[in-house]
Amino acid sequence: MAKKAYFIGNWKMNHGISGTKSYFERFLPEISKVDLSKKVVGIAPPFTSLAFARKLTEGSPVKLCAQNACFAEKGAYTGEVSPLMLKELGVEYVILGHSERRHIFGETNELIKKRVKGVYQAGLTPILCVGETLEERKLGNTFLVVSEQLKQGLSELEKVEEGRLIIAYEPVWAIGTGVNATPEQAEEVHFFLRDLLASMYGKDLAQTIPILYGGSVTPENIADLIKEPNVDGVLVGGASLDPEKFLKVVSVAI
Ligand code: 13P
Repeated sequence: MAKKAYFIGNWKMNHGISGTKSYFERFLPEISKVDLSKKVVGIAPPFTSLAFARKLTEGSPVKLCAQNACFAEKGAYTGEVSPLMLKELGVEYVILGHSERRHIFGETNELIKKRVKGVYQAGLTPILCVGETLEERKLGNTFLVVSEQLKQGLSELEKVEEGRLIIAYEPVWAIGTGVNATPEQAEEVHFFLRDLLASMYGKDLAQTIPILYGGSVTPENIADLIKEPNVDGVLVGGASLDPEKFLKVVSVAI
């Protein structure tokens, strides 16, 4: 089967119950008209909107994603959400190690690798995010930073089944800034990450692992980004908050 392209909307801390309702009222009738034979479409609402989003999207092609998850199945972890609870809700993919988790909330590679393992073991698919800051890029440390994040983030996953892992390259300087990585910059890092994945899991499996790009993706720049051979999809923040804009991104010709 040919590889599918992924279009995941990360709503971050936006769209409570009423926002979720009006979003899907506009989004669902239109998404059913888009040819999704070669595409996977997902939305990651905030935790409090997940159950309602599940109700609304049941029977639709939209995959439900979460923005984080605990490493443990249950217990004394105030403020955390168990991967099993997410699974019970019908969540399939979980974003982990997002730069906002790393930089605003101080999540370390050490913590993120535990989350990746917990999510994987619960039968959900982790979307592990990696990406360098502007300063790190300027110092020429991009490959060093993303390889550390990738290697450490995956260090507890000795083996990976096909279809059970997604990587997202999100350069911090491109997130929410309106300055996207150029297709060439994205491809350069994706190529590097693919090679690294091949050294960890073998070439054949590495080819099957989707590597998504995230950072100021819009209806205007999606066509050029998605053309790159190692860009297997996108993780969209701001432009996914507006159903019409996200539909335009998802409708790109591939
Ligand atoms: P923006 O698309 O708003 O730059 O955010 C990207 C992102 O962080 C997706 O996870």
